[in-house]
Amino acid sequence: MTDIVPVDPVRPDARDIERAAACLRRGGLVAFPTETVYGLGAHALDREAVRRLFDAKGRPANDPLIVHVADFAEVPRLTTGAPDVARTLAARFWPGPLTLVFRRAPVVPPEVTAGLDTVAIRVPAHPVARALLAAARIPVAAPSANLFSRPSPTRASHVLDDLSGRIDMVLDAGATALGVESTVLDLTTDPPTVLRPGAVTVEELRSVLPAVRLRDASLGPADGALASPGLLSQHYAPRTPLTLYQGEAGAVRTALLRDAHAALAGGRRIGVLATREAAAPLRGTAAVVVDLGPESDIEQIASRLYAALRELDAANVDVILAADVQERAGLGRAVRDRLQRASKEVIHAG
Ligand code: TXA
Ligand code: MG
Repeated sequence: MTDIVPVDPVRPDARDIERAAACLRRGGLVAFPTETVYGLGAHALDREAVRRLFDAKGRPANDPLIVHVADFAEVPRLTTGAPDVARTLAARFWPGPLTLVFRRAPVVPPEVTAGLDTVAIRVPAHPVARALLAAARIPVAAPSANLFSRPSPTRASHVLDDLSGRIDMVLDAGATALGVESTVLDLTTDPPTVLRPGAVTVEELRSVLPAVRLRDASLGPADGALASPGLLSQHYAPRTPLTLYQGEAGAVRTALLRDAHAALAGGRRIGVLATREAAAPLRGTAAVVVDLGPESDIEQIASRLYAALRELDAANVDVILAADVQERAGLGRAVRDRLQRASKEVIHAG
């Protein structure tokens, strides 16, 4: 049985937090909100708890976890040779959606880091996550609280859809604010490398650390070579096959509209995932249309993306046609990365 505990997102009840913290300390699995997505927490220094966490998610053991801590003071104990720049980045971005990769100290079990000699750490900003970490007084390993290969959860109901009965507790504080995961920055390379674009933008990182570079695999085709199909790992995928239309805005809309009408004429059930502008011509057709918000509002688009993928999955359509966003910089990078990873096929329009 999974205990569902509603909590106030700003001022959670201290007794609820203490109960969740105690559950984590004795090796239980607790899902909790962060400012990005819900995480599934386990005591990071308890190998058994971490093994149960991998089991509950169906996550392959070769995929390392992020260790969540209450503040920067926890970093020295979990790492070796943390570079000076870590303190600068933490001062600017913690608590917040930035994950830093360090050399691992021996105290961190290899189960957490999938055998790597590095460890990923972040200090989340959500008041519930902060209260939980402060009460638990342990480092908490927490991947997104979804079944492996499903879209990340931005509501407690998404967590329960995937993990009900497989975890001990979920703290339900409503929808998360940002909707895409933290940015993962590797500090063991010189210069530091963005391994996963996320809620802290590359531009923000470069304002502190101009040399930050992007790993090639995280670049969309507009930024360089198309990542090889093997790298389009379907980490964020809906069950329904998703076709992503990339390219110039007008060409994307024309191609998507043409293919949507052809599919509908052929009697297929289709879902459409697009910005308000791109979705508009398909309103009133038999297509299930989920509008992510206006093209100009990339924050809203990011915050709705995963819920939209789950909604279309539940709509029981044969295929999802998705229009890529036009925003190349900032949060657009993270949104385009997630759309690409969710896609089974990419069509280059125009
Ligand atoms: O926003 C987030 O980061 C959310 C919330 C819950 O904090 N967590 C999250 O965890 O997205 P997960 O497990 O879904 O993604 C962790 C990412 C993966 O891309 C993983 O490869 C990377 O962090 N990662 C973890 N440890 C790493 C390491 N030692 N070296 C390189 N990448 C690492
Ligand atoms: Mg995940």
